[in-house]
Amino acid sequence: MLSLEHSKEMEKILSLLKNYISGKKIAKEMGISRTSVYRKIEKLRNMGYEIESKKGVGYKLISKPDIPYPHEIKPKTKIIGKNIFYFKNLSSTNEFARKMVQKGAKEGTVIIAEEQTEGRGRKGRKWFSPPGGLWFSIILYPSLPPEKGGLLMMASSVSIVDSLADIGINAGIKWPNDILIGKKKVCGILMEMEASLNKINFAIAGIGINVYNKLHPSLENASTLQKFINKKISRISLIKSILEKFDENYQKLLEGDYESIGKKWISLSLTIGKELEIKEGNIEIKGKAIGIDENGFLLVKSREKIHRIMSGDVIIK
Ligand code: BTN
Repeated sequence: MLSLEHSKEMEKILSLLKNYISGKKIAKEMGISRTSVYRKIEKLRNMGYEIESKKGVGYKLISKPDIPYPHEIKPKTKIIGKNIFYFKNLSSTNEFARKMVQKGAKEGTVIIAEEQTEGRGRKGRKWFSPPGGLWFSIILYPSLPPEKGGLLMMASSVSIVDSLADIGINAGIKWPNDILIGKKKVCGILMEMEASLNKINFAIAGIGINVYNKLHPSLENASTLQKFINKKISRISLIKSILEKFDENYQKLLEGDYESIGKKWISLSLTIGKELEIKEGNIEIKGKAIGIDENGFLLVKSREKIHRIMSGDVIIK
């Protein structure tokens, strides 16, 4: 496990390695022994950093891996991502986040895993999470009334779509919160919340983005971001941008500016204005999506009435 707190030393050594530098000099600059310099260089190499060593000259950093290590992300935010934890392997970042909540984790803590062995999707489904994607969870303690919980999801999806637009990928949101390019799902959000009568106790925003990972062969409607763009995507820049945009949108929500999130969500929605079929348990509704209400519920006009829908699986006709 790697966290921002533990990475100060790593950052220091990486910055020294920008130009050729001798082991002796690194040791002096960092106040450590030459053996521990050697050990640290080896550790960085094992983490994927390419470090050249030239006899009599020293070491130099040649390339960095595109791995979302906390010290590489460092988002410029007020609340989100002040604390980031990176794991090579976890059962599920949402599950781990829950444990951290119980231990009193700070608001905005982000948990990232390179790979999840038991990634969770909505409705108890599995979420295939091999290396090369972005699988992460954000811990929130929003002082929002429980009925506004849906807007938190909207703030996440809007932030992701905006970040994708910044790298030239045109995506949209299928209600409730699937991010699609064309008809292919590239990202899913699992918002887990615990609330009492008038207060959200905590929320965990679990975000799964297929970046350049393998896809499960059974998923016909899924794709990866990399398939839609020619240049190599940087997972580091992408998650940084998402955390920064989410930080802004989250603050808007906390300030009570629900409307701008709702409006933005509608502008990116692939669902509004479409004829749909929605299934939730045994209930099936057919109608036209005409908007969302003040809490982010979908408004669907069937022949009989207008339904306010909180969750369900949507088939767009
Ligand atoms: C969906 O069903 O569309 C939601 C998928 C959410 C997957 C993410 S990956 C990171 C986080 N940890 C999990 O176990 N699930 C979410």
